[in-house]
Amino acid sequence: MNTPDPTTATKPQASMNQPNADATPAAAPASAPTTTSVESADGREVTLTDVHAYYGGSEAVKGVDLVYKPNEVTAMIGPSGCGKSTLLRCINRMHEEIPGAHATGKIVVDDIDLYDPSIDLTAVRRAVGMVFQKPNPFPTMSIFDNTAAGLRLSGTKGVDVKERVEWALRGAGLWDEVKDRLDKPGIGLSGGQQQRLCIARTIAVEPEVILMDEPCSALDPIATLKIEDLIHELKQRFTIVIVTHNMQQAARVADTTAFMYLGELVEHAPTQQIFNNPGDPRTEEYVTGKFG
Ligand SMILES: Nc1ncnc2c1ncn2[C@@H]1O[C@H](COP(=O)(O)OP(=O)(O)OP(=O)(O)O)[C@@H](O)[C@H]1O
Ligand SMILES: [Mg+2]
Repeated sequence: MNTPDPTTATKPQASMNQPNADATPAAAPASAPTTTSVESADGREVTLTDVHAYYGGSEAVKGVDLVYKPNEVTAMIGPSGCGKSTLLRCINRMHEEIPGAHATGKIVVDDIDLYDPSIDLTAVRRAVGMVFQKPNPFPTMSIFDNTAAGLRLSGTKGVDVKERVEWALRGAGLWDEVKDRLDKPGIGLSGGQQQRLCIARTIAVEPEVILMDEPCSALDPIATLKIEDLIHELKQRFTIVIVTHNMQQAARVADTTAFMYLGELVEHAPTQQIFNNPGDPRTEEYVTGKFG
């Protein structure tokens, strides 16, 4: 799966449910919902087959096979440096943006191969949204513009931006706290609110999959619980992968948990099983705090 030449890449495939710049998202809300949750929808299955990721000659991910089920939360755990973030960046094709980095293998969302040379990279990153460890709202933008930023990047023709912004902020559980100051800077919000703003920005483009790389590690326990509640809501609609170093968090939010070690996937199983009856001694040592 070498990087395709973006100049020869074609438009996104319709079955990916990703609108191109002049199309209306199929699943766009017809009217602004009045609840704080996003409506249910079928998520997408993401299948990784023999994924390897390299930084120059150094192999950081060593042949991972993994299936992320739709409408489930999968936690990725493992000691620092085991390749969790690298693997996530392969899924939305950010890894290849790092100079000298490349990946091989296959990553398929339903039946769409994300590394197909004909695929549009913008469509991939729209289909696979990412939330980072540190909330990263655009510093010069208002709350409204931050939420709409991804939308504007990928095209807003046929989209009622105001309506979509409200929908995304409601979906991210932030609307009530910001509805009277949408024109104020995003960076004026608390850390937890900023992270929910980043989640709103991610869901505003209606992705299929949301990757979260330690989204709560910079947050206090109350803000963390809010994000965890939100993850429960969001899984009704999206396929969610969350990297966490917090075992309690994995136990609270994740349906299944995958343990990585030294670039390999050691095991992936229902979360209860990973914590109570893991199949590999390395998993047991890690979840019981013996290393990592
Ligand atoms: N930009 C980079 N250039 C070179 N090597 C990198 C780069 N980013 C990560 N690595 C290396 O790849 C390996 C996997 O790193 P990665 O960041 O994926 O681990 P991680 O599991 O996310 O760790 P953490 O829990 O600390 O975030 C490590 O050995 C790391 O040093
Ligand atoms: Mg990481």
